[in-house]
Amino acid sequence: MSAFALKGNICFSQGKNKISVHEQSYLICENGVCAGIFKELPEGFLHIPVRDAGDSLIIPGLSDIHLHAPQYSFRGMGMDLELLDWLNTITFPEEAKYADLDYARKAYSIFTEDLKKSPTTRACIFGTLHVESTELLMDFLEETGLKTFVGKVNMDRNGPDILQEKNAEESAKATLHWLSDTSEKYLNTKPILTPRFTPSCTDELMKKLAEIQQEYHLPVQSHLSENMGEISWVQELCPKTAFYGEAYDQFGLFGGKGCPTIMAHCVHSPEAEIELMKKRGVYVAHCPQSNTNLSSGIAPVREYLDRGLHVGLGTDIAGGHSLSMLRAITDAIQVSKLRWRLTDDSLKALTFEEAFYLATMGGGEFFGKVGSFLDGYEFDAVILDDSFYRHPQPLSVRERLERLVYLSDDRCIKGKYVSGRKLF
Ligand code: GUN
Ligand code: FE
Repeated sequence: MSAFALKGNICFSQGKNKISVHEQSYLICENGVCAGIFKELPEGFLHIPVRDAGDSLIIPGLSDIHLHAPQYSFRGMGMDLELLDWLNTITFPEEAKYADLDYARKAYSIFTEDLKKSPTTRACIFGTLHVESTELLMDFLEETGLKTFVGKVNMDRNGPDILQEKNAEESAKATLHWLSDTSEKYLNTKPILTPRFTPSCTDELMKKLAEIQQEYHLPVQSHLSENMGEISWVQELCPKTAFYGEAYDQFGLFGGKGCPTIMAHCVHSPEAEIELMKKRGVYVAHCPQSNTNLSSGIAPVREYLDRGLHVGLGTDIAGGHSLSMLRAITDAIQVSKLRWRLTDDSLKALTFEEAFYLATMGGGEFFGKVGSFLDGYEFDAVILDDSFYRHPQPLSVRERLERLVYLSDDRCIKGKYVSGRKLF
């Protein structure tokens, strides 16, 4: 048995609407799993090592369930376009550079170092279509100790010559090569099937990916109903489907038995699509900053939450410009307020409790028992020190937590644990 404790001001979600606060308490980790919160160390744990975080806050690690590693290099640049123009003029030319392993090495070492220092402990990450550089990204991520799913991207149509696989067969072959190299190689880093989105993948490719999904029992990540132009295009490409989600579902790549699936965005999902996501247990990755930057719209997250869909948050680097999942929490709240005020007052804005839940337990569920400090949850923790903020009045821990999240300041991050392993 290996056990230790973190001491500090412990804050975590106990469900959608409740944040528990335990001032100056011990959070015990036993064999990588949370084993209780106590004011004083109990009898059987008197001699375990303790890391005293002083007056810092201790929160569960955050799960970023949608981002693109190769796009970190141009975050915050070229932000005045909508999705399809942005992909063609900025994103695809940059991703094409990852054919060059030296470029990939430089870019991915910066990305992984920054992700390690961020409040994120788990992530679902897109690479590019290139096998070698995606494997390099996985090597780097493994070293960080973060737990991630990483996808070699599939795209065999509608891309530029510099960023497109020759045909479905070549794309499937590259995917199998990548899987045979990586599916058993790592402890922390796992492959996830990643058809970029319907406009990038022929029916033939989708069929082959579905076969690979079955054979390897892989999870799936893609994009769904992000932008109106994209949705019309999918309708033209797939005239037999009633809505975008069916374009994945017809191949068995939309959740359901043995195929955990994340769909990013779901900004403009029609009723039938929402129903199918619920039926299939699809995870919605809500990416509020990206949806703002690319003028995509505002997803009805309150509705998804209230109807019991799985929902988590994503930074969607580089649609989103900030790698901070603390920022994603506040963005989710802010855009939900604008949606409520400007377009639909039947859906109330998200509360702080709800948005904090989405970033911790909501997205964490994709990884198992992750995102809380309740007994039995994996011990993913972040230590946040806000002592350098000057304040003229005493503040409660709950007030400090909200301020820390709103200010989203990386300088606060002083420690991080994943499944009980100390990263720093
Ligand atoms: N849809 C297809 N590819 C992408 C991408 O790279 N980013 C976003 N936001 N949407 C996409
Ligand atoms: Fe994306």
